[in-house]
Amino acid sequence: MAENPLAIDFTGIPFENPFMLSSAPPTLDAKRVIRAAKLGWGGAVLKTVMEEPTVDPRTRLGAIRVHGKPIGMNNIELLSRHPLKTWTDSWIPEIKEKTPKDFVIVASIMSGPEPEGWTTMAETLSRTGVNALELNVSCPHGSPEKHMGAFIGQNPDLVQKVTKAAKKGTDLPIFVKLTPNVTDIVPIAKAAVQGGANALSAINTVESLIGIDIETATPLPFAYDAELSNPQSTYGGFCGPAVRPIGLRFVSQIAKALPNIPISGMGGIERWENAVEYLMVGASTLQICTAVMWYGFKIIQNLKKGLIQFIARKKYGTLSKIVGNALPNITSWTALPKLSPVVARIIHKKCNLGKECLVACADAGYQAIRMKGKQLVVDPEKCDGCGLCAVVCRANAIEFIKKP
Ligand SMILES: Cc1cc2nc3c(=O)[nH]c(=O)nc-3n(C[C@H](O)[C@H](O)[C@H](O)COP(=O)(O)O)c2cc1C
Ligand code: SF4
Repeated sequence: MAENPLAIDFTGIPFENPFMLSSAPPTLDAKRVIRAAKLGWGGAVLKTVMEEPTVDPRTRLGAIRVHGKPIGMNNIELLSRHPLKTWTDSWIPEIKEKTPKDFVIVASIMSGPEPEGWTTMAETLSRTGVNALELNVSCPHGSPEKHMGAFIGQNPDLVQKVTKAAKKGTDLPIFVKLTPNVTDIVPIAKAAVQGGANALSAINTVESLIGIDIETATPLPFAYDAELSNPQSTYGGFCGPAVRPIGLRFVSQIAKALPNIPISGMGGIERWENAVEYLMVGASTLQICTAVMWYGFKIIQNLKKGLIQFIARKKYGTLSKIVGNALPNITSWTALPKLSPVVARIIHKKCNLGKECLVACADAGYQAIRMKGKQLVVDPEKCDGCGLCAVVCRANAIEFIKKP
């Protein structure tokens, strides 16, 4: 039988494919996870559980849009609102029973800064038969106010301490989920590994204020009171395609600093190309929340198909051959070549004469673009090779060539 090109080993766990639902609303109960497994997801990280269930504000989701399409989402939701016992005694056994043997189930746990809670939670969840545990030390809203979540994840000593405590309660692989709300993720990642982490997951959401309803001067999303009046908000967690650059940065920085630690990458994965980007910066499994919340579980079909076709077209053979491929090409600014003889050229068969490049180059570039007859042209003597024209061109009609 032909080898499965998407199969990958992650902390000793064989994955049928690298795509997991991340810990979030798509994994908030057993029914959803079972449906996702049937549709072909490789695994799921269950919605984070604590000793006590949480309660949420309503509403709690807001979006940032470009031309009507959401590109990023903010949430002020907390963790599982269902009792721990429901998960341990009912839902996890049901998920195990009704999903294929190779579907990977990861329980996400959270406790406070004292280590004992982490040991107990790890022991409790390990008994359910899940494949691994993910430690949520990264929720950026609500939890830090109670010295949990990102409060722990921003402090290397605490990260090491709670990871070690969780290890004490389990023999299962432990993934530590890191927060992007730090200046430097490397010391935190190292602390998790020193505490015994078998893998790192990155990133959780980016703390943000997504917008203001300017008619009512209320930040979004609103939390209403019982009379649906007096709406108020707080800083929330930003996710979706708009955070992908932040996720890629953090994952690549972890992979460069800790080349032997497996990484589960996430933050804005929507299409198979984004999955390849995360693999190339060092992730070997991938987690998705927002794209599933917006477009449903069935996106797994295109994700898998696109990735299989890419592996075949590039003759990689297996997924693991992609992992980390872009890392050698990330260097320091100082080490970058400067003032190369590169200039822009307009690809006339693609150009729709939208003239975004003309406007941008005139006012913020080097006045190198003009109309010549019925065509836009670049003057190679004036062009500085800055790349602005390619950024604004909606027809993708700019290429870069050696200065003639
Ligand atoms: C509404 C919502 C709830 C979330 N709840 C959790 C959670 O309980 N535990 C957790 O570790 N991450 C939680 N996350 C973060 C996601 O798992 C993920 O790290 C983040 O959204 C980035 O991935 P994405 O861009 O694919 O959404 C939540 C995200 C959203 C949008
Ligand atoms: S690369 Fe910069 S300077 Fe050159 S044409 Fe484009 S916008 Fe103008």
